Amino acid sequence: MSSNSSITIRPARAITGSVRLPGDKSISHRYAMLAAIAEGQSRLENFATGADCASTLGCVRSLGIEVGKEVNVVVIKGKGSALRAPSEPLDCGNSGSTMRMFSGILAGQSFTSDLVGDDSLTRRPMARIIEPLRKMGAEIASREGWPPLEIKGGRLTAIDYQPPVSSAQVKTSLLFAGLLADGKTRITEAVRTRDHGEVALRSFGAEVSQEKTDEGNQVTIRGGQKLHGIEAQIPGDLSSAAFFLCATALLPGSQLVFDRVLMNPTRARLLDIFVMLGLQISVLELEEANGEPVGTIQAKAGTLRGVTIAGADSAALIDEIPVLAAIAPFTEEGMEIRDAKELRVKESDRIAAIATNLRKMGAELEEREDGLRIPGRQRLHGAELDSFGDHRIAMAFAVAALRADGDTQIANADAAIISYPAFFETLESLLQR
Ligand code: S3P
Repeated sequence: MSSNSSITIRPARAITGSVRLPGDKSISHRYAMLAAIAEGQSRLENFATGADCASTLGCVRSLGIEVGKEVNVVVIKGKGSALRAPSEPLDCGNSGSTMRMFSGILAGQSFTSDLVGDDSLTRRPMARIIEPLRKMGAEIASREGWPPLEIKGGRLTAIDYQPPVSSAQVKTSLLFAGLLADGKTRITEAVRTRDHGEVALRSFGAEVSQEKTDEGNQVTIRGGQKLHGIEAQIPGDLSSAAFFLCATALLPGSQLVFDRVLMNPTRARLLDIFVMLGLQISVLELEEANGEPVGTIQAKAGTLRGVTIAGADSAALIDEIPVLAAIAPFTEEGMEIRDAKELRVKESDRIAAIATNLRKMGAELEEREDGLRIPGRQRLHGAELDSFGDHRIAMAFAVAALRADGDTQIANADAAIISYPAFFETLESLLQR
């Protein structure tokens, strides 16, 4: 994503109030894709508002499935697994999730699909799904492992697979392909990644088993199972909440309440990290919606200590590391981030983007191949920054700018529309100056 939009962020004293978050992006993508191949209608309330999930809905429409929209409800009229061959390339926009996860479904269709995306998506690695989907029998052409993709779908055979990278997108893509394959597909991941694919499949009526083994987390799906449509109220996106939680942690006297936020344990490690950082967090109510835990969270500022993020935590927090790193200079003990090389192949090279922007604000830090070491107790000044076309970088530095001395300009700030179009407006409405 790139454009010329720039935003100015003024420092703030505190952040207070109540936040209603857009629906979780990971869940919205999966529900839309499964609703497209389910029998009957799905009604998805609080569907993610960002451009990424709109890309998924666009692909669903191009595959001959009716998609209706009423305010924040998306209605998808599935027709079983009978998708129609698209008459033009499927545009995945900026969304790696759309391209990787939809590929699993398209690999099992009786037609050929072309998948394209923007400049950033064209630089995202696809070998991680191409290889296993080929093993299952799909014919896939690519630019040596990079988009665009041409997927010649057909009859698939189940595989037993251990992905070399820990990725929930890869796991989900293979579970979707496994649903359409002959036999039982088994995926063993060394580090357990977010399980929204498994939870969503169950909610649409499929049986998916999960077991902890010596090799790691093992997930199995039997091919040929039929899905039915669902009614869902999608929980608020915890990764979007992370920006406001960091702002709360950063500004003394701050207090926020978040209604109906996703509390799935494979995502909620973030809350433990915030507690380690010194934020006071209470979960006021806990319920379940379509197999996903949902809660109301109250957060209060405390002392901002420091934290090390490494190993399995780096995979669990991969989307939140940009904003955590952006506030690291303001912590007492600083932050160390290791084992997070995947950040280099996200919507931007996020390690480089964080280092560049923090240095522009006057921070000292060490950039490493797989992470960053950012000392604490630093004083930062406002600066001219860039989002590098990356939504999470745009929002992360809007948060850091709240504690800087002087104003900060962020170029290409409208990248935020990818996951949170109302972000800047919502942030502004909660700030005390
Ligand atoms: C996602 C998984 C993560 C994450 C992305 C969403 C998902 O990517 O960074 O924003 O919904 O499964 P990887 O699977 O590449 O780690």
